[in-house]
Amino acid sequence: MDGGMDIGDDFVGDGSNFIGIVPTFITPNNLTRFHLYEKLELAGETGVHRFRCLLKDTTSIPESTLIRMLSSWECVYIHKQEVGDYEQYLKDNLHIILANDSIAMETRSLLFTDLCSDVILGVLKANFGFPRLESKTLASLKGLVSKAIGFISNIDSLKGLVTLIGHDYETHTHSIKVGWLMAIFVKANPHLFAVSGRTELEKLVVEATVMGFLHDIGKAKIPSSVLNKKGRLNNLEYVAIQAHTAYSVSLLFDSDFPKYVMEGILYHHENEDGSGYPCRLKYDEIPLFAKICHIADVFDALTSERPYKASKTPYEALAIMTGKNPNLEILHQMEQEVWEGGAAPVSVVVRNEKNPDIRRLKHESRLNKEAEKRVEARMKLRDNGMAHCFDPELLKQFVLTLNRSESFDFSTLI
Ligand SMILES: [Fe+2]
Ligand SMILES: [Fe+2]
Repeated sequence: MDGGMDIGDDFVGDGSNFIGIVPTFITPNNLTRFHLYEKLELAGETGVHRFRCLLKDTTSIPESTLIRMLSSWECVYIHKQEVGDYEQYLKDNLHIILANDSIAMETRSLLFTDLCSDVILGVLKANFGFPRLESKTLASLKGLVSKAIGFISNIDSLKGLVTLIGHDYETHTHSIKVGWLMAIFVKANPHLFAVSGRTELEKLVVEATVMGFLHDIGKAKIPSSVLNKKGRLNNLEYVAIQAHTAYSVSLLFDSDFPKYVMEGILYHHENEDGSGYPCRLKYDEIPLFAKICHIADVFDALTSERPYKASKTPYEALAIMTGKNPNLEILHQMEQEVWEGGAAPVSVVVRNEKNPDIRRLKHESRLNKEAEKRVEARMKLRDNGMAHCFDPELLKQFVLTLNRSESFDFSTLI
């Protein structure tokens, strides 16, 4: 402890041992787990502050007074030593905080995303080199989602999600957004599922969310040099990335995940016309959850910034997703080439080189360049329209669902 002082005493220092938190996240119960401080200026001192403990004994203050006090503070601080307790407090009280309408939607969304990010990052780290996802981790994720489900399946929470759209494309943030979109979609379209009653629907929403959260978990097994590559992917890298669906499923093997959730994860890159992966399924062969995950996945991928491309607006993304591609035949030819390993033609320049070493090097770089060009061309072609990738009826429902939020107006696309 600083200078032999105890938590609960006043501290004087540069503040590096304290972090600011949102006072309205605090509900009066459970406060005894950690201490709250206010930051006071010290006359004549720069860079040094006094941190005064605000509530030493919360039980002595009436609850209504405490609530009034908390809402009057703009920022309060906690000591770094108690961050663990504070985080646990947030997880335990998530359902109360997310339901608190006096906290801005954006702030609540960020809290939820942060907490889920932590869990998913933990899952990713814990599973490097391990064949399966620990059931304990899965249970904690399900618990978190169950607490948050009212919030994330509420169409109004999309307003919070909008603030995250266009941001980074880290696998974990992407997965949260996909899970969130799936929750909203399932909640808004119960007629698509054979469920009777609220409890069954709620269970389905939890499963859809957790599925979204974990759909790309297999990326933990893909080399980060490939995942974070700043240029276009060549065929080798592209095919390596495709393996993530199988890895995701193998990590979840033997978990208590229902089969249809596992299948949804395995097939979330299957296209409606059979041009997707891993099994080239088409139309009715693709399970419903996989189709929904595919739509949410592509919507988030297009609206997020990636190392090699700027983000599209939600409107642009949906215009691409619903658009008919005039060059569909060419696009299919290219997909076919990748599927079959694509023997790239060796150029005349390479054949004419006399030195075998240089010839080999030139050959390799030529192949890479050609592969990169094809992937680039394929992406450009994709931007002309991806309607062939999705179930048209589900995509329409997806647009309608997003359109219900005041955050978007897609009426011209419907
Ligand atoms: Fe994926
Ligand atoms: Fe994804």
